[in-house]
Amino acid sequence: MPVLETFDPKIFAEAEIEKIRKNIGNEKALVAVSGGVDSTTCAVLTHRAIGNNLVCVILDDAFMREGEPEHVAEILLKPPFNVPLKIVNVRDRFLQAMKGLSDAEEKRKMFRETFYQALGETAQKEGCKILVQGTIKADIVETVGGVKTQHNVLEQMGINPMERFGFKVVEPLVTLYKEQVRMVARHLGLPAEFSERQPFPGPGLSVRVVGEIRPDKLETLKKATTIVERELAEHKPGQYFAIIIDNEEAEQPSGMVHIQETAARLFNVPSRNVHVKIFKDKATGVEAGKRRYGEIVGVRVQTVNGKVHQAAIQNLVSLQAKIITEKPTVARVFYAVKDLEEKKAYVVGVRSVETKDFLIAKVSEMPWATLSKIAEEIFKECPDVSTIYYDVTPKPPATIEME
Ligand code: XMP
Repeated sequence: MPVLETFDPKIFAEAEIEKIRKNIGNEKALVAVSGGVDSTTCAVLTHRAIGNNLVCVILDDAFMREGEPEHVAEILLKPPFNVPLKIVNVRDRFLQAMKGLSDAEEKRKMFRETFYQALGETAQKEGCKILVQGTIKADIVETVGGVKTQHNVLEQMGINPMERFGFKVVEPLVTLYKEQVRMVARHLGLPAEFSERQPFPGPGLSVRVVGEIRPDKLETLKKATTIVERELAEHKPGQYFAIIIDNEEAEQPSGMVHIQETAARLFNVPSRNVHVKIFKDKATGVEAGKRRYGEIVGVRVQTVNGKVHQAAIQNLVSLQAKIITEKPTVARVFYAVKDLEEKKAYVVGVRSVETKDFLIAKVSEMPWATLSKIAEEIFKECPDVSTIYYDVTPKPPATIEME
C-alpha cells in the first residue's frame, strides 16, 4: 500500500504542472477524459500546465453510462475548470469492432486497438503529436503481471505509440496509486462526484457485458446500471454495479445435482425447491494472482410456499464457498433475488462489494428489501430480462468485474 501520510498533493501537483510544461513545451496535446478520477485529474492538471494548447475529448465509445459524456462535459467546461472539451461520437465504430467477440481478453485488446485508432485520428485532425493520459501505477503492474490487459498500457507491452498510432505519450500520474490520485483531485478542487467516485473501468460497460456485446444487450445493461447505482448509493458500498449475461445454459453441465443437494441441506428445504443453472458464458476469477475463467452458477431456492428463500447474505456466501470448493471449475455463484419463471433473452447480476485495496473484496450485506426493489425496477424497465441475481462470490476466488 502507498505511504499516504507523507504524500503531499500540493507539492506533487505543483511539481507535475512544471514538469508537464517543460515536457510538452509549446506543442498541442490531446487528452481523453472518461469522467473517472484518473483521466479527469490528468486533464485538469495538464490544462493548468499548458492552457489552451490542450485539446480535451470524450470519446463516446458506447460503453459509458446513460448520459455520462454530457454530464462530464458540462462540469469540465464550466468554471473553475474551463477545460475546452469536445464529445466525439465513435459509438458505431466500437460496436462494429467488438461485434462477435465474447472472450474477455479479446474484447479488452480490441477495445484498446479501437480506442487508440480513434484517438490517433482525433490527434491528427487536431494537430496534436502528444497524448496525455491518466495511467496509474496499478494499471501497469496488472497488465505487465498478466492479471488483465488495461487498455491504456502501451509501451510496457512493447507497443510503440508513435509508430503505431502517431503520437508520443505523456503520463503525469504514472507514479501514483488510486488513493493518491484522489488526494490530488481534491487538491485541484474537483467535485466529490469525481474525486470520490467508485472506480469505473477504462473499457467501461464492455467489461460488464459477459459474452458477446450486442446493442440491445448493452442498452438493457445501461438501464439496469442506472437503477443499481441509484438504489445502492445510500448504502455506500466499496463498488457496485450491474452485469448482463445471455440467458443460455451450458451444453453439458455437470455437478448440478450435487449443487442442488448442497443448497437444500444448507437451507433445509427439499431438493425440488432448489433450481440450479450453469450458464453458457464464463466469468473471470483470480487464482494465485492470475486471471482464470470459470463457470457461472445460478441458484434459486424457493420456500415451501413458493417464494424466494431470502437467506442471510453470509449464508449465501457460505453456500458459494461450498459450491466452489466442491467444484473448482466454478468462478461465480449467483443467487436469484427474483425470477419471472419464463425464459427471456437476458439475466442481470447485481454486484456489490466492500474493499479497501480492490485486491480483496467481500460481498456487501445488502438488505433483501433493497435487492427486491432493484429487481422490481429492472423488470419494469427491461422487458428482456427474466432473472435478477445477487453475486455472492468474494474476491478471490472471483474478480470484482465479471467480463
Ligand atoms: P477486478 O475485476 O480485476 O477489478 O477485480 C479490480 C478493480 O479494477 C477495476 N478495473 C479496471 N479499471 N481499467 C480500469 O481503469 C480496467 O480495464 C479495469 N478493469 C477492472 C475494477 O472496476 C475494480 O475496481
